[in-house]
Amino acid sequence: MRQPEPDRDIAAWTRRDALVAAAGLASAAVLAPGPGLATARPIPFGSAAQIETFRTDPRYRQALTSYCDVIVPMNDLKWEAIRHDRSRFDFSGADELVAFAERNRKGLRGHALLWGEALPPWAREMSTRAEAERELVEHIETVVDRYKGRIATWDVVNEVIKFEPLPGEPMRDTIWQRLLGPAHVEIAFRTAARIDPKARLVLNDFNFEEPGPGTAARRKIALDICRRLKDKGIPVHGIGMQAHLYADKPLDIDGLQAFMVELGKLDLDVEITELDVIDWKLPADAATRDRAAASLVATFLDAIVSVRRPKAIVTWGLSDRYSWVHEIFPRQDKARARPLPLDADFKPKPMMAVLDRFRRSQS
Ligand code: G3I
Repeated sequence: MRQPEPDRDIAAWTRRDALVAAAGLASAAVLAPGPGLATARPIPFGSAAQIETFRTDPRYRQALTSYCDVIVPMNDLKWEAIRHDRSRFDFSGADELVAFAERNRKGLRGHALLWGEALPPWAREMSTRAEAERELVEHIETVVDRYKGRIATWDVVNEVIKFEPLPGEPMRDTIWQRLLGPAHVEIAFRTAARIDPKARLVLNDFNFEEPGPGTAARRKIALDICRRLKDKGIPVHGIGMQAHLYADKPLDIDGLQAFMVELGKLDLDVEITELDVIDWKLPADAATRDRAAASLVATFLDAIVSVRRPKAIVTWGLSDRYSWVHEIFPRQDKARARPLPLDADFKPKPMMAVLDRFRRSQS
């Protein structure tokens, strides 16, 4: 995930704030069904679940139960959590969250079978192609087999595209890319499909939403990777857009909608997998930030849904009390980030009403 950038020109942003606030004031418009939504099927809504908070905060568990159709373990299916000891698999956290989801009849997403981050030290020290392939295949075989028929969708690979792709250099520099080359993606998808042929297999990545040549290149690379998998007969079912949206940046609506058209041509689904709003450049006032975030999410989702209906819309947490955004994108005024649909006291914010519109759209 990208680290924060230096402060932007606040003066230029202030003009934008006025526009955003105006959009926020027209929140009724924000909540009106977007084009093509009014007669469409509901889109399942869900959230990532952190095991530590799940175990300690009953309001968190209650919110997951009340609001979510889908749950994704935020960290407990990562190598760092499962493979901290090379000689064994620790599924304790994942099992607890999977059991909760099944008890409460929630769908499940798995995140992530391959990532270049959140790796235990021993995995970061792998040194040969043979070792990397052996460990990757065994990991995916063991994890996918354990949850076969239970976790319906997997982020098979996460963030394999270079943040700023260069000509001839589309792939992110990770241990997997270094030891296996681009084939690491095929190995991951082929193995997951072999173990659970019924699972939906997704390529998950971020920064598909903004204008600019770098983001357009990322969208093209994601499509190229999936096209190559399909051409080789390797099952791939969709692209996961993490959608960590920046409140101080515009959306490339045309680029996003063209991306959705291309996904359709490849018969690929789209999933919104980690939605939240990074509001570190917005004014302190909570109501202004909440309106701006809701307006941005509505604009983003209307743009996507009007061309291709996501299989799910998943936020990266539910309450502002627990979000990675506050630590990674600290505000100058030290005010807490407000990235999610519920506030720190688990009260719904305007963003939740927007998400509800998509969750309850009547067919
Ligand atoms: O579980 C250990 C705990 O035992 C230990 O005491 C503690 C202090 O070191 O660390 C705990 O692990 C932390 C883990 O979250 C669980 O809380 C890791 O250090 C920490 O790095 C990890 O951060 C997560 C991060 O991914 C890296 O895995 C964030 O919670 C999570 O929100 C973030 O999510 C990522 C997605 O997976 C991919 N897309 C970007 C997104 C945001 O970075």
